Amino acid sequence: MKPVLVIGANGQLGSDLCREFRFEESRLVQMTRADLELRDHDQVARVLETVRPQVIINTAAFHRVEACEADVEQAFAVNCIAVRNLALEANRVGSYLVHISTDYVFDGESATAYDEEAAPNPVNVYGSSKAAGEFFVRNLSRRHLIVRSSGLFGVAGSSGKGGNFVQTMLRLGRQNGVVSVVSDQVLSPTYTLDLAQMIWRLVAAEQHGVVHVTNRGSCSWYEFALSIFDLSGLRVEVRPITTASMGTSVRRPPYSVLTNRRLATGGLGSMRPWPEALDSYLQACGAKVAAGPTPEHVGVKGAEN
Ligand SMILES: NC(=O)c1ccc[n+]([C@@H]2O[C@H](COP(=O)([O-])OP(=O)(O)OC[C@H]3O[C@@H](n4cnc5c(N)ncnc54)[C@H](OP(=O)(O)O)[C@@H]3O)[C@@H](O)[C@H]2O)c1
Repeated sequence: MKPVLVIGANGQLGSDLCREFRFEESRLVQMTRADLELRDHDQVARVLETVRPQVIINTAAFHRVEACEADVEQAFAVNCIAVRNLALEANRVGSYLVHISTDYVFDGESATAYDEEAAPNPVNVYGSSKAAGEFFVRNLSRRHLIVRSSGLFGVAGSSGKGGNFVQTMLRLGRQNGVVSVVSDQVLSPTYTLDLAQMIWRLVAAEQHGVVHVTNRGSCSWYEFALSIFDLSGLRVEVRPITTASMGTSVRRPPYSVLTNRRLATGGLGSMRPWPEALDSYLQACGAKVAAGPTPEHVGVKGAEN
């Protein structure tokens, strides 16, 4: 049985990858940070030597955008140096390395969606560290696939962020009855279940290079929040605000929509529209409830990457 290793197996994407694993004649090896600390180079070498995975999927990242800005060393240790080491160790045991990356490698200044050929130009520490990690995978790994996605939501929630945007909106909406959300950052929200299924399809087709995988369509975080409450049946007032009004010094790409060009041209299938995916997600986590108006009207900030 050929071993397939998922790193970050208890994360939002990692847990859906494990749930959707369907390969015959292969066995899934799931590793959480407790099993494998990616920054520990010796441990990575030992684990790969023991498991000798045919495929490695690396979902691990330090991806809290504000925290990355405050701790540049950690951001680069996890998202870049550890990835460089993983690429070298993957070569040593002959593994095909699938590395997950982000829309935040782009500056978001484009008027049109970014395809796989667009040049990265990150505007913050998180994006820079992920772009640097990509660089090492591209240049060191003999067999690799980089999958960029955006605005993830999954049933497990984001372990690195203590919940995803949808969960945060539902919690704040229920608590306060009103939320304020940025309307000047546009993205393609993506359900990790759909992303996981597409990643396995790409692995089965032995794709290489960079592939963008997001649910179809785009919206601002404000529009995303409107849909969350609409589809979940919660009556919550959503107020649009600007990024500038949030008083953060961390730059974020204003328009980080990814076009799934390679999926289309390679005949690899397509992703469903994000509102459909959001509806399925809300059903899967039992968040479709009919709720009456809530009493308090307190402004809160909402958006995360
Ligand atoms: N979330 C988003 O909106 C988003 C958008 C675009 C791209 N991405 C990318 O998608 C990938 C998956 O994101 P996600 O939302 O599924 O993340 P997640 O839920 O936070 O999962 C990340 C996993 O990586 C593990 N991990 C973190 N640091 C590690 C380390 N040093 N060594 C070993 N394991 C470590 C975490 O373990 P612990 O729980 O123990 O920390 C967790 O299981 C990341 O590469 C991220 O950059 C995410």
